Amino acid sequence: MGKNDNIAKWGQNFVKPLYFRKGTLFLLDQTILPHKVKYIRYTTARQTAKAIKTMIVRGAPAIGCTAAYGVVLAARQYQHRKNYKELIYREIDALAATRPTAVNLFWALRRQRLIVEQGRTASGVAKALTLEANRILAEDIDMGRRMGEYGAKLIKTGASVLTHCNAGGLATGLVGTALAPVYAAVARGKKVKVYADETRPRLQGARLTAWELMQNGVPVTLITDNMAAYIMQLGKIDIVFVGADRIAANGDTANKIGTYSVALAARHHGIPFYVVAPTSTVDLQIRTGRQLPIEERSADEVTLVGKTRIAPRGVNVFNPAFDVTPARLVTGIITDRGVCRRPYRRSLAKVKKEEF
Ligand code: MRU
Repeated sequence: MGKNDNIAKWGQNFVKPLYFRKGTLFLLDQTILPHKVKYIRYTTARQTAKAIKTMIVRGAPAIGCTAAYGVVLAARQYQHRKNYKELIYREIDALAATRPTAVNLFWALRRQRLIVEQGRTASGVAKALTLEANRILAEDIDMGRRMGEYGAKLIKTGASVLTHCNAGGLATGLVGTALAPVYAAVARGKKVKVYADETRPRLQGARLTAWELMQNGVPVTLITDNMAAYIMQLGKIDIVFVGADRIAANGDTANKIGTYSVALAARHHGIPFYVVAPTSTVDLQIRTGRQLPIEERSADEVTLVGKTRIAPRGVNVFNPAFDVTPARLVTGIITDRGVCRRPYRRSLAKVKKEEF
């Protein structure tokens, strides 16, 4: 698939996780899904940073796109200040301090920082940042469709796919990563059904993946995380697709906590386990999984389900938001530039070179 090839434009009617209109950023509030579909308006970079931290918006590619618009908001806020560049850099730092694992955040901010550095006037910078943010969003959607096309070839009609967390449209600019092959396969007329892990503690699988697939007409069955291995043993799963927050140069992959257990179970049962991620998620600066930064979040996420306390007050809690799946458990990494196979050091470096 070349850069200018026509690719099927499925997903145009999907719910938008974010959009930018007339100087305002709109984010779909993912903390209240599936109960309410509500967009929140953002006009400052600080509010945007808070939205990323509190997971109003989440999923590595969606975080990157949102941060890019956060910088646009900063430029608009400080357009009339003499030291506008310095003020924008401060906002970029605040945006970067929100979530440490998703590399798309830093990738998008680096692109925006370059625009600021090269700018000559405040209004010129604001315009150029808006164009770049629009480009980042459009590229993300295009990359999603490309991953979908590559991944769909691996799905046989009648297949059962297992996924973890939400790496669908909601986690990206529009069309998803891990769910993109499913959507592309369905668009080609294949019959596909999905098993969605509920994904403790934030329940992205139950709240978001189940909702999103139902909205988009794809049959989905919800299971709790501890059911995945048994369902594989029952022979109900043909293939696993998961997303990624950051992929090291050797293919070790950081993704939502619980992904590693799914990979182990898939290996045991001889089920192919694919990571689906755009080239913007590959971080060649990180050599192996041991260097991947893993976010730890608050104890409340584990001790409360919604507002209900399920553990004794004061209990010790460990809450890593992500884990690392070693490359040896990964059958392939589906990127927008093709499917990378072992040795990943070579195949990932190759697709990174061809990046947008
Ligand atoms: O904590 P979250 O909800 O931001 O974590 C999301 C994931 O782990 C996704 O699998 C990953 O970001 C890829 S999204 C296309």
